[in-house]
Amino acid sequence: MQDIREQLLTDLAAADTAQAVEEVRIKYLGRKGLITTLAKTTDFSKLGPEEKRNFGRQLNELKQLATERIAAAAAAARSGQAVHKGPALDLTLPGSEHSLGSLHPITLVQMELEDIFQGMGFMVLSGPDVETEYYNFDSLNMPGDHPARDMQDTFWLNSGMLLKTHTSANQVRTLEKYGAPVRAIFPGRCFRYEAMDPSHETTFYQCEGLLVDRNISVANLIAVMKALLGEIFHRDVAVRLRPGYFPFVEPGFELDLQCLLCGGKKCPTCGDGWLELIPCGLVHPRVLEAGGVDTSTCSGFAFGLGLTRLAMMKYGIQDIRRFNSGDIRFCQQFPAAV
Ligand code: DAH
Repeated sequence: MQDIREQLLTDLAAADTAQAVEEVRIKYLGRKGLITTLAKTTDFSKLGPEEKRNFGRQLNELKQLATERIAAAAAAARSGQAVHKGPALDLTLPGSEHSLGSLHPITLVQMELEDIFQGMGFMVLSGPDVETEYYNFDSLNMPGDHPARDMQDTFWLNSGMLLKTHTSANQVRTLEKYGAPVRAIFPGRCFRYEAMDPSHETTFYQCEGLLVDRNISVANLIAVMKALLGEIFHRDVAVRLRPGYFPFVEPGFELDLQCLLCGGKKCPTCGDGWLELIPCGLVHPRVLEAGGVDTSTCSGFAFGLGLTRLAMMKYGIQDIRRFNSGDIRFCQQFPAAV
């Protein structure tokens, strides 16, 4: 029995596939297996009572050991774990390197913005991609016949819903839910029916910001925008406001950033020393009213930052189509964390 036991353990250590373990089982516990045969062929009548008891006990123990070890080896082989054999772990071997992966540049810029705005007390919210016409347009002072709708070529769904064309769609949802005062940003994916080229995509990202409180003026808007851009570009920046028309703000602006390459002295990148960066304005009273805000006491500002554009500027990406290309080599150029 001792020999069989040792042989069994050696055989099991060498069996590293389910098939090999099964062969071990047949060799020992099968109908003609070594343990089975031993039990069958022993002539108990020739043994004394004491010997009989000992032999029986040992045989049972051997059978139990074999059954347990074989079952464990079979389970390990099935789960793909090699049955451990050979010497113990060799700590002198070099380790295998595990890649941390990397984050998509949009994710990186979004995380950075979220951090900056959270530092200024803004909530980070998100709205649905499939939106109603009301939240995407009507609630933003853009009724069905408004010419500004033409600027946002829209993917309409058969249900009458649409794919949100801008993150502004979440403005009135936010006002309805939180009322005033409120400070929030909503980064999100937007969709437009565009012919694709290096600077146009059907799917892109924006980050909307909304602040509503008592006595909010353009001065507050400029202060927040300057703080934001200073943090993003790690330096003091100069900005200017030009009039811009958007139905959901009054007055509305295009906020330009003084070119960081030439310092405003005019260069091929900027042309006139300024880069158009953030459309913004004071929230139109109709939008505030749609959100149930009392316009006699509260006002606010909003802005719509092009997250994709910002990522292109920050990382020098020249073709917008890279972002959704799914080409892993594109992402691998970026870090795993901000
Ligand atoms: N939603 C506008 C667009 O995608 C951008 C925009 C303009 C957002 C002015 C704003 C704003 O919040 O105040 O074209």
